[in-house]
Amino acid sequence: MSHQGTAAELPPHILIFPLPMQGHVNSMLKLAELLCLHNLHVTMLLSEFTHRRLLLHANADSRFACYPGFRFVTMPDGLPEDHPRAGERTMEILMSLKETGGPEFRRLMESTDRLSDAGGRRPVTCVIIDGVLSFSLPVLEEMGIPYIYIRTVGACSFWANFCIQEIIDAGEVPLKGKDEDKLTYWKKKEMDIMVTSVPGMEGFLRRRDLPGFCRVSDVNDSGFQTIKTETRKSTKAIALILNTFEDLEGPILDQIRKHIPNLYSIGPLHTHLKARLAVKTSYSSRASGSFWEEDHSCVTWLDSQPAKSVIYVSFGSVTLLTRNELLEFWYGLVNSGQRFLWVMRPDSIIGKDGESRIPVELEEGTKERGYLVEWAPQEEVLSHPAVCAFLTHSGWNSTLESVMVGMPMICWPYFADQMINSRFVSEVWKLGLDMKDSCDRMIIEKMVRDIMVVRRDEFLQMANHMANLGKKAIREGGSSYCNLDRLIEFLRAMIP
Ligand code: UDX
Repeated sequence: MSHQGTAAELPPHILIFPLPMQGHVNSMLKLAELLCLHNLHVTMLLSEFTHRRLLLHANADSRFACYPGFRFVTMPDGLPEDHPRAGERTMEILMSLKETGGPEFRRLMESTDRLSDAGGRRPVTCVIIDGVLSFSLPVLEEMGIPYIYIRTVGACSFWANFCIQEIIDAGEVPLKGKDEDKLTYWKKKEMDIMVTSVPGMEGFLRRRDLPGFCRVSDVNDSGFQTIKTETRKSTKAIALILNTFEDLEGPILDQIRKHIPNLYSIGPLHTHLKARLAVKTSYSSRASGSFWEEDHSCVTWLDSQPAKSVIYVSFGSVTLLTRNELLEFWYGLVNSGQRFLWVMRPDSIIGKDGESRIPVELEEGTKERGYLVEWAPQEEVLSHPAVCAFLTHSGWNSTLESVMVGMPMICWPYFADQMINSRFVSEVWKLGLDMKDSCDRMIIEKMVRDIMVVRRDEFLQMANHMANLGKKAIREGGSSYCNLDRLIEFLRAMIP
């Protein structure tokens, strides 16, 4: 319980509700911590499963122990105990929550006088809700609780999803005919036709760069329709928070503001938090929001490698590789002759047990120049002096983490927002190379050499420039810094 004077003096009480997936929880935990640093009361609503994983692998309770106004609450995600909640079945979490989450959320909100902790905190004054969890809106609207949307994707992806109706009207989706084989279709020339229906992206956005949800043969596809309607519902919220910064996505943010004027770009949240922690407290936690145990032995390995000699390879928390893709990456990396640190999540290879075993002919090259782990402390790895490039799936968190340390990227987007993020990385920000829709050892080998040797200085220069703009955004007086202050004032002004 956290008493701070009389009831009238109690600070605002914010409920934060992320979709219980790694990328969403990671960034929203950082927002929670930022609000706590400004003495707001925060209740973080997690699924029971996610909460257990955070306690097990991320030292979550001790991370927040220094904030008396913080606490976790949980609700079931509706899936059976033995459901893997990973790999190809990850999206079932969202589907299950959509089906079962409404009544659970209602029960929770009604249970203890809007979570007021027997008077230790105000009843929830505002909910910051992941913009894909609209099943909870009827409860909030009925109870008269204001809500703000947060999206953990970039402005570019949010905006493309926002324009889906316009994209349909322009005939730019569906992206493939009903009977066409999806794998070969993505390689077709039609996919390179420019999209004209997303304002601000004319001239560089090809059909293949549209968010992965657009890769359907029927506009009535349920996943596609869900994204369309969920994104449009953002206009119902009293504000929108995005984990980005003005110098990175200003023109797109301006487009969004035409529909959602009360927009707070306060990112990158991970470095923004570090900067505010450094100014405000002597507290700096090493605990992360990881759902997997971080293997710190890779940092020891990096310590023994020459400066700027290693490419870090990681495809995030959801991506799956076929045995064939795994081998193409493996050959490409070994044949490039460069050193590599590769995160191979245990659940990330599709196929029978043991199929991720190393091919005999690659054993020597891997032993000489490679290091494999199941999960890495990614932020620490990316800022290590031995690392000089990132082969990534272009998840938004990974992209921002890379941007902020001036790390050039090779992008191999897998799904969803990653398709458009990688286009921005390569074509708009010029921070790397995009190899979407291909997985070929020769291309991989060439791109690794290009980014680490041939075009290294060119990419490093651009990446350093963007990193400096990012640092400026979170410094006192910077755009994200001011926007966060405005957001906190906005939250404070909601006290009845
Ligand atoms: C996906 C989307 O692509 C993303 O844009 C969306 O917002 C959430 O869902 P994910 O696959 O989890 O995300 O990728 P990403 O957004 O990059 O998040 C992965 C997080 O896990 C990053 O914060 C990264 O630092 C962390 N990570 C990854 C580790 O800590 N260790 C690892 O070994 C790999």
